[in-house]
Amino acid sequence: MKTIVMGVTSSIASYKAIELVEKLKKEFDIEIIVSKNTDNLIGKKEFENVLGRKVHTELFYKGWTYKGYLKREESEHISLADKADIFVICPATANTIGKIANGIADDLLTTSVMATNVPVLICPAMNYKMWENKIVQENVLKLKRNGFYFVEPGIGHLACGCSGVGRLAEIDTIIKSIKELIDKKNSLKGKRIIVTAGGTVEEIDPVRVITNKSSGKMGIYIAEEAAKMGALVTLIRGKTEIEPMGKINDIKINSVNELSNEIENNIKSADIMIHAAAVSDFSIIRKSNKKIKSNKCLILRLKKTIKIIDSIKKLNKKIKLVGFKAEYKVSEKELVDSANSLLKRADADFVVANDVSKGVFGSEENDVVIVGKKVEHVKGGKREIGKRILELVR
Ligand SMILES: Cc1cc2nc3c(=O)[nH]c(=O)nc-3n(C[C@H](O)[C@H](O)[C@H](O)COP(=O)(O)O)c2cc1C
Repeated sequence: MKTIVMGVTSSIASYKAIELVEKLKKEFDIEIIVSKNTDNLIGKKEFENVLGRKVHTELFYKGWTYKGYLKREESEHISLADKADIFVICPATANTIGKIANGIADDLLTTSVMATNVPVLICPAMNYKMWENKIVQENVLKLKRNGFYFVEPGIGHLACGCSGVGRLAEIDTIIKSIKELIDKKNSLKGKRIIVTAGGTVEEIDPVRVITNKSSGKMGIYIAEEAAKMGALVTLIRGKTEIEPMGKINDIKINSVNELSNEIENNIKSADIMIHAAAVSDFSIIRKSNKKIKSNKCLILRLKKTIKIIDSIKKLNKKIKLVGFKAEYKVSEKELVDSANSLLKRADADFVVANDVSKGVFGSEENDVVIVGKKVEHVKGGKREIGKRILELVR
């Protein structure tokens, strides 16, 4: 039986979490963490009654001593985090959302969330002015970018007597999201995935290089999300602006040749390859072993590099392949045509194409077309786009 660790924070909608527990307890093992303010607002007893046993509230339980702790060698925030298949915070207050988004862990719930690596589903509920508050929205965005899941609040009559967005989503909608997330968590279990990311780096001399503006975020987010879905992920990355998190076999490369060698080393046993690296199209014909003097003009002679993507299906016929295509200032039709021609040339299953003139380098956002048998336009956070790519390819 899967375990849901459910955090309940002190919104006027907290009582609705009782119905959620009532419905979920038939299918799941549930542990409840009630914030101290929820205990003040509606009382933890309500949750103990519906669950039929104690709920958790305190980071330091009654009678806590460090000597006792050293003997038990267990603390609830770690044991709850370890036990969870999924964390659900329902309802989530502006306060708790803000604390998690800013790395604050000052109670049992926020400390347990900090200590977990399983999916966290947040169900906000608050007055519409609180929900519209720019800081709350920034916190929500930050959490989404960091892989937290949300069931968006609905619009309607609020307990404060006003109307607007902020109402806790319907309980059945929340249950549907929980079940989808639990299914998704294991949907790539045991699958071997290679993800390439970042820009390759070709040396001109021992000091200078040719590279590109890729930040590597798209590929790294895909690798992180695939790991969360149970895949065995090998990330082969060039120059990136961020570091990957989670259980990932992280291989660093510089040049196109190094990238190609590492792909060859790993491709035979892989089920899926997502080739998001920005691979240099050119390398230096003759690299200088000494630093080139700067006292005169310099003409660099470049040669075309190998097209790695063209060889993938030849190395592993069964692999599912996702390629990426960057174009500059093109129409959507030209973008789709370009993706289609790469799709055919490389015998890929999907090609994700974007127009990099739209300021996507280094950004958290992207605007892409995913071309396979159908064409799908996806605009939004790079992590969200990564999740969609994984859904399509799994
Ligand atoms: C009657 C009442 C209703 C409240 N409802 C909400 C709410 O719906 N959403 C919210 O974000 N905060 C709400 N608050 C404010 C939170 O309880 C407050 O920010 C608290 O510090 C949150 O603590 P917690 O996140 O640890 O539970 C409410 C407060 C009161 C007194």
